[in-house]
Amino acid sequence: MTTALVTGGTAGIGAEFARQLAARGDDLVLVARDGERLAAFAAELEQRHRVAVEVLVADLTDPAQLALVEARLADDTRPVDLLVNNAGFGVNQVFVGGDLDAEQRMLDVLVTAVMRLSHAALPGMVARGMGGVVNVSSVASFIAGGSYSAAKSWVTVFSESVNRQLDGTGVTVTALCPGFTHTEFHQRAEMDVDHLPDWLWLDAPDVVRSALADFRRGKPVSVPGAQYKALSALARYLPRPIVRRASAVRGPDRLGRGTP
Ligand SMILES: NC(=O)c1ccc[n+]([C@@H]2O[C@H](COP(=O)([O-])OP(=O)(O)OC[C@H]3O[C@@H](n4cnc5c(N)ncnc54)[C@H](OP(=O)(O)O)[C@@H]3O)[C@@H](O)[C@H]2O)c1
Repeated sequence: MTTALVTGGTAGIGAEFARQLAARGDDLVLVARDGERLAAFAAELEQRHRVAVEVLVADLTDPAQLALVEARLADDTRPVDLLVNNAGFGVNQVFVGGDLDAEQRMLDVLVTAVMRLSHAALPGMVARGMGGVVNVSSVASFIAGGSYSAAKSWVTVFSESVNRQLDGTGVTVTALCPGFTHTEFHQRAEMDVDHLPDWLWLDAPDVVRSALADFRRGKPVSVPGAQYKALSALARYLPRPIVRRASAVRGPDRLGRGTP
């Protein structure tokens, strides 16, 4: 790998992808909305790791700004070997009667951007016979925890499907499905997560290390942490009515408590 593009590469899991990829010598293209923060983080990484870091200020809910990122990914003169579709946020509300524009913005970033950026990046990777995509999904994709969970289900199934379609090309797609991870995510979504026990929490460096290892092995789905490997296996193999009932207790649709 020589160049990686990370969306949401300034905070939380995305910033940790940027740190670990720069530490192994990858050049980076970082995408986010906050230009000052992007520039400061890029300078820090360039200085510490002696790699080139390009920044793209783009709001992925805006089709014209998203198109700029698509164009960068499709530019064969400056190939991107790894796309990390990481940018995202949660909408902490009940769907019925909730803010429809907020739902739409969430779908734009979690689903539309992932689809369009993958579509822009993958043909070049296939032509070069190498590279791939990590799509940051969530363990919420295995349960019925509101529209966030539904969007992440799309991300997981999309990744599994495209990974299968790419068999034999040298290119792979991995859905990274973390549980609760210490980042800015819950604060930004005004989710109350103070009551959650310590054992449920992951740290971004562990999440990213495990994701990159699974990506190297071409795994379609990566679930970091023993606790979440067990919980996600339960969610996938238990009868769906039980999963639905358990999801309603946990999910933001019911109690406003937050979801990974
Ligand atoms: N933290 C968790 O517990 C957890 C668990 C499972 C999955 N996830 C998933 O992990 C991914 C990363 O989340 P995180 O926890 O690291 O959150 P975070 O700390 O809040 O970071 C979010 C990043 O996304 C960028 N971003 C947000 N909206 C954007 C937009 N419209 N256009 C472009 N960039 C945007 C932010 O930068 P700007 O604000 O500057 O744009 C920031 O760099 C998300 O897809 C999330 O759903 C998180």
